Amino acid sequence: MQIPVTPEENKKLPPNFIPEIETGLLAKNASISPKFLYDPLGSHLFTAITLLPEYYPTNTEKNIFTEYQDQIINAIGTGVTLIDLGAGNCQKAESFFNSLQPSHYLAIDFSVEYLEDALEKLKGKYPSIQMQCIGMDFSKELIIPNSIAKDKRTFFYPGSSIGNFLSGEALELLRQIKSQANDGGLLIGVDLMKEDSVLIAAYDDPLKVTAAFNLNILRSINSQLGSDFRVEQFRHKVKINHFENRVELYLEALEDLTVNWPGKSRAFQKGELIHTENSHKYTIESIQLLLNQAGFKSTHIWTDPKDYFAVIYAQ
Ligand code: AVI
Repeated sequence: MQIPVTPEENKKLPPNFIPEIETGLLAKNASISPKFLYDPLGSHLFTAITLLPEYYPTNTEKNIFTEYQDQIINAIGTGVTLIDLGAGNCQKAESFFNSLQPSHYLAIDFSVEYLEDALEKLKGKYPSIQMQCIGMDFSKELIIPNSIAKDKRTFFYPGSSIGNFLSGEALELLRQIKSQANDGGLLIGVDLMKEDSVLIAAYDDPLKVTAAFNLNILRSINSQLGSDFRVEQFRHKVKINHFENRVELYLEALEDLTVNWPGKSRAFQKGELIHTENSHKYTIESIQLLLNQAGFKSTHIWTDPKDYFAVIYAQ
């Protein structure tokens, strides 16, 4: 089933990311927004990361969902409109379909091509759920179409993607979620702070899948910007920033080089870094504080035996 979308909602043109990419590349400390990690190949590489034994967040979260499914459903209630932020392959939301029995499912992601394929498969499997997907850069602004039922909206933001935002940005996104949830709430997965060795193994895996995921951002930028980045001139680098409580991903230039794109260029010296991602790790107290600041009044919290990860339903 298809949720009707008004012509205005459908008419939006793909955003022009060139000024944003240029600002990042031309800065003294170069950076590329992590959203460009998720082009079609990057989205598949991320799915591969989630299958790595070293990448504990996915399995830990899944185990919490399985172990506490009844309590989670009790907290949320059934028949809600489920709004999946950063839906990817939609598998995590699907694992709740039978117990949560959502009336509607709205899948939102930056990479709409990947999402459309995933949703097409789901529609055949769950004909009673009205389904729709939209491509949206909700790191800028979260706008839920007017055609989506307003009562009992349950936002679903698993995988600790909230960790990829700076704290001010995370607070703004949580505020926007709270203001559009109406009577509903937010089911969120949050990665917790832990020892460096576990983090390094998860973000610099021996199969080099995370390295490929990170390096692929250069190809993604080449197609957005028309630049001539050569992947083989860079390497994946991971740092743990204890002051900011986060894992930081970089690409390090292996030689002196110049990247060109229409009208501009940027020289990199050997060893120079491009910052591509932050992955913040929270404590129960720090995420609760952030949720409270965003306007959520109550939280149910579930964790795993090692306290690696938390699943929270906030209202
Ligand atoms: C999507 N996000 C929560 C992942 C993370 O762990 O920060 C992205 C990722 N980057 C490298 N590995 C996984």
